[in-house]
Formats: sequence, C-alpha cells, structure tokens
Amino acid sequence: MKVLVAGGAGYIGSHTVVELLAGGFDVVIVDNFINSEPFILDNIRKVSGKSLSFTELDVTDKNALFSFFEKEKDIAAIIHFAALKAVGESGHQPLRYYQNNLVSLFNLLECAEKFNVGNFLFSSSATVYGQAEVLPVTEQSPVIAPESPYGNTKKIAEEIIRDVTKATNLRGICLRYFNPCGAHSSALLGELPRGVPNNLVPYITQTAAGLRQKLSIYGNDYNTPDGTAIRDYIHVVDLAKAHVTALNRMAGGKQKEQFEIYNIGTGVGYSVLQVVKAFEEANNLKLNYEFAPRRKGDTETLYADTTLANNELGWKAELGLNDMMGSAWKWQEGLAKT
Ligand code: NAD
Ligand code: WQD
Repeated sequence: MKVLVAGGAGYIGSHTVVELLAGGFDVVIVDNFINSEPFILDNIRKVSGKSLSFTELDVTDKNALFSFFEKEKDIAAIIHFAALKAVGESGHQPLRYYQNNLVSLFNLLECAEKFNVGNFLFSSSATVYGQAEVLPVTEQSPVIAPESPYGNTKKIAEEIIRDVTKATNLRGICLRYFNPCGAHSSALLGELPRGVPNNLVPYITQTAAGLRQKLSIYGNDYNTPDGTAIRDYIHVVDLAKAHVTALNRMAGGKQKEQFEIYNIGTGVGYSVLQVVKAFEEANNLKLNYEFAPRRKGDTETLYADTTLANNELGWKAELGLNDMMGSAWKWQEGLAKT
C-alpha cells in the first residue's frame, strides 16, 4: 500500500516513515524543508535500510501537488504532518500559519478526492483542549477556542476533515498528540529546532550541551505538587507507531466511524521539575536551571486519558520518561559531532 507522507522529513514524520517502512508500506515523501534538513532523508535510509521516494514540494502549491499526484499513481493514504508549529510565532504571524496549515490541508483533501486516495491521517494536538476542567482529558472533553492561531489551525482542520469524511467516502483519523519528545535509538533521527527552542526537551538538551546558558522553568507557583506545570510526554517512536496502527485500522476497514479521533499520550503527567530530574538521572548530568515567571498562554496541567487509543485503536505507549530523556540526549550529542 502506497502512503504519501507530507512533511516526512520533519521530526515526527521521519520517525513515522521508519515505522511505515518496517511495516511494509510503500512510502513517498513530500517536504519543502521549511523546518527540516535534507540529511534526515539519508538518515531514514540508513536506519531503515530501504530506498525512499522523495519530492521537494510545497504542499500549498496546488499545481505542483496535483502534478505530483498525476505522476504518483495508486496513493492509498495520506499522512499530513506538513504544518508550521511554533505556538508563539503563530501569534505574530497568524496569516502565515493559517495559510500554510490550512491551504496544505485543502490541497491534500482535494487530491484525496480527485485521485481516490481513501484514507487520511492528520496530526492534531492536545492544544485543542486548552486548560481542561476535568483531567485526564478524553476525546469527549470539550474542545475550546485555542489561544494561538496555531492551535486554531488544528481545531479548524479537525472540523474540515470531519465534514469532508461525512460528505465523501474518505476515511479519516485525527491523532491528538500530547507532548512528543525523545529521538530514535540510532541517534540518527530527532528534533531539529531552528533557533532557540520553544519546547522543553530540546531546550534541556541544548542547555546540557552548552548551547544555552540555563533552562528557565516557567512558573513554580502552579497548583501542582512541586509548583511546576504538568504535561503528558510521549516518546516520538511510540507516537510514530500509533500512525502505523491508525493506518492499518483505516485501510483494513476496521473503523467504527468513518471519522475518528484519538488521544496519543502515555496517560501519565510529569512536572517540568520531574522531567529535569529524569534527564539528569538518565544521563548522569547536572542541568543549569532557574525559576522564571509563567509563560503566557501556558496551561497548568494536561494529560491524556488513553483508554480509547489502548482499547479501540489497539495502541499503547511502551517507552517511559527515562527512554525519552536518554534518547534525546544521545541525539543532541550526535548533532554536536556533525
Ligand atoms: P516539523 O516541523 O519537524 O515537521 C513538519 C515538516 O513539514 C517539516 O519537515 C517541514 O519542512 C514540512 N512542511 C511544513 N510546511 C510544509 C509545506 N507547506 N509543504 C511541504 N512541507 C512542509 O514538526 P513535527 O514536530 O514533526 O510536527 C509534525 C506535525 O505534528 C505538525 O502538523 C505539528 O503541528 C503536529 N504536532 C506536533 C507536536 C510537537 O510538539 N512536535 C505536537 C502536536 C502536533
Ligand atoms: C512544556 C512545559 C512549559 C520550555 C507545546 C504546544 C502544543 C504542542 C506541544 C504542537 C510547559 C515548560 C518549556 C522552557 C519551560 N505542540 N517549559 N521552559 O507548551 O505543553 O505544548 O508543544 O501542537 O500545542 O503548545 O510544550 O515543551 O513548550 O512546554 O519551563 O524553556 O515546559 O512552560 O509547562 P507545551 P512545551
């Protein structure tokens, strides 16, 4: 079965491609490297030991995408990772985010219809829950109007995919990722932040590597056991495997509904301080950090109820915080050598 991975050179996309290839899927990647590097494609080849089909292309370029589909016959599924993802930046550049994240979606959905693709898997985000009143959050928890344009692109995209699946034969699954982190055990694939990282784990690894002076822990006055904010960190390899499971479910005709949504997390929440301690212990290092004021727009506590993903999708996270922190550091160390 041929799968188009849009944004397959990126952090989650590259790990997913490795799992798809291991699962016997025929993978074609498109990416414009707006937030990734070509060497990742070589590393996917090294890790998987398989050849790879890649086309450099901006998914918002409708003509280029349609020509690509005309050439690539028999694409049976699309995985749409191709988005801009910096929450803070999206507040300053809302139009750029709506344009990239939604036009890419329109174009891929149009191609799905025109070229009889059949299956559509979308990268959504736990950001759609905002600060939920009841924890852990289930897929039935209220979806709020997200604070950031980025978050709003995820909420709107879910609604668009739902409506398109309702009106056509297209099958859809949205995976709401919690906090992806960690790297491939080979240390050949991992997160490649451009500039100063926004996310916690790359900030930690860059601080440990001496690229940043110290980690600022945003807020130690939250209503949590140690005062720092709590999230559900999910190993990127577990997350990648969830895509293979979801694809098999859709393509195997096993869905209960033509459009489904799943939380993809571990179901366990860790505080920022717990993550820092886990990093120090996993790697036998000391991290330079200080407490700083809360970051605007941050929520206090968020973690997933993964019952639906475990029981219905048939996927469960296997790797813990120790693996996330160990692999993230190995990847960072490898980057320093290149
Ligand atoms: P990433 O930036 O590493 O990967 C995205 C890839 O898409 C990059 O290779 C980028 O070059 C490419 N891309 C972006 N716009 C494109 C376009 N118009 N045409 C072609 N390629 C384009 O990000 P990631 O962390 O791998 O995230 C993948 C998806 O998961 C995104 O949709 C993101 O919003 C979503 N997501 C990420 C997280 C996270 O914390 N990493 C959490 C929840 C959801
Ligand atoms: C985690 C915790 C920070 C950096 C974001 C997006 C979300 C999703 C995942 C895409 C928070 C704290 C962080 C730092 C810190 N992405 N922190 N110092 O904010 O939960 O989620 O990424 O969909 O939409 O909002 O993740 O890694 O930025 O932060 O103290 O230098 O670490 O305050 O409590 P977040 P994060």
